[in-house]
Amino acid sequence: MKPIGVGKSRGIQGTITVPGDKSITHRAIMMGSLARGKTVVKGYLPSEDCLHTASAFRMMGLSIEEGNRGGPARRTGGDESPELRIEGKGLRGLTEPSSVLDLGNSGTALRLMTGLLAGQDFFSVVTGDESLRGRPMRRVVDPLRRMGAEIHGRQDGNLAPLAVHGRRLKGIAYALPVASAQVKSALLLAGLLADGRTVLTEPIPSRDHTERMFLGLGIPLEIRGTQISMEAPSEFSGREIEVPGDISSAAFFIVAATIVKHSELTVRNVGVNPTRTGLLELLAEMGAEIRVENRREIQHEPVADLVIRSRPLRGIRIRPESVPKTIDEFPVLCVAAAAAEGETIIRGAEELRVKESDRIRTMATELSRMGADLEELPDGLVIRGGRKLSGARCLSYGDHRIAMALAVAGLTADGETIVEGAEWIETSFPGFERLLRSVAQ
Ligand code: S3P
Repeated sequence: MKPIGVGKSRGIQGTITVPGDKSITHRAIMMGSLARGKTVVKGYLPSEDCLHTASAFRMMGLSIEEGNRGGPARRTGGDESPELRIEGKGLRGLTEPSSVLDLGNSGTALRLMTGLLAGQDFFSVVTGDESLRGRPMRRVVDPLRRMGAEIHGRQDGNLAPLAVHGRRLKGIAYALPVASAQVKSALLLAGLLADGRTVLTEPIPSRDHTERMFLGLGIPLEIRGTQISMEAPSEFSGREIEVPGDISSAAFFIVAATIVKHSELTVRNVGVNPTRTGLLELLAEMGAEIRVENRREIQHEPVADLVIRSRPLRGIRIRPESVPKTIDEFPVLCVAAAAAEGETIIRGAEELRVKESDRIRTMATELSRMGADLEELPDGLVIRGGRKLSGARCLSYGDHRIAMALAVAGLTADGETIVEGAEWIETSFPGFERLLRSVAQ
């Protein structure tokens, strides 16, 4: 188990970029693979999660080449711009994989692939690592079955490995019981191969990268409030897709620069899609100073540069409506709340219990080990901030975001913090440790 060690920081200073957005990279690989002709994905995220998605398509007969403007992809660092070149063969151009498709640690890859494979005319099996094999899949399997899919797995299809017998699908009208972009996207991908209309309604809007990418590729989609409706296109063509920096990776640096005194940090080229910016809004409410500059749009996705200065924070009450757009940022938001004066209450966030780890339990346990005052609720946490943190030996529980959040907490703690299991950071943020060391004084 690879540990990382972090000491108390005297300031976070500099200008950085973070690696490409994970959600957009997965979708770009999938859509490039279903398109006809060449797709170039610029600035894609070369992390383990996304590389698993690419290898799944290679196993289904596609050519996907990694490169960095002609050279081999470098897998570390935040400022190079790696490229992926995909030769798509159209919506029905995949061939039956002769072995199991292993999607590693990635819930996004496994759930979206299940939707994409349900309507293909071949048999496939999708699986993942131990953590992924314990995460709930009925949320995608149930509505896919209603579309006519035949999917088998343990607990009546709730647990991977999932065996997918490709079937002719039909569009359905479906109200999602949980706000989940993975469920929504799995059904939209299934809708690409379904007869008739697929109409989805979300309880609270979740990240809309799939919808934006469909529109960018010319796939007709109607969006009215929280309702999305589509019909299968006959074909669509590949194109260049540019991936902005991942705000969920920038989040660790945004919180670090906010809570470590004497900090001023610029993060360039970050995706600021409004379905992802909950952290920026909540930190602003807590008193943070985050300037959003140079706003622009790259292929239907809003992008900006962020300038962060350290500020004292105060606790807030987080409403359930803010949860979906902050969902991956809660581990590091807990760190900000522990540094704030007063109480922060997070409710309506029970989804955190079924992420790469039970993030309510893991953050409560590990930050308490450092001296913070956190109380678990069934659907969130109460964090009584302002306690002095002390360095401790902490665990990642095989969860990349827990490892990075604890490293950020270590920057404000007295003494050294060791985070065990830091190798999991590779699933989403290659080069995290090097980038952190380059800005932490
Ligand atoms: C993602 C959706 C979210 C998020 C995950 C990425 C996506 O999951 O937590 O990291 O790319 O669609 P849920 O859909 O389960 O909320």
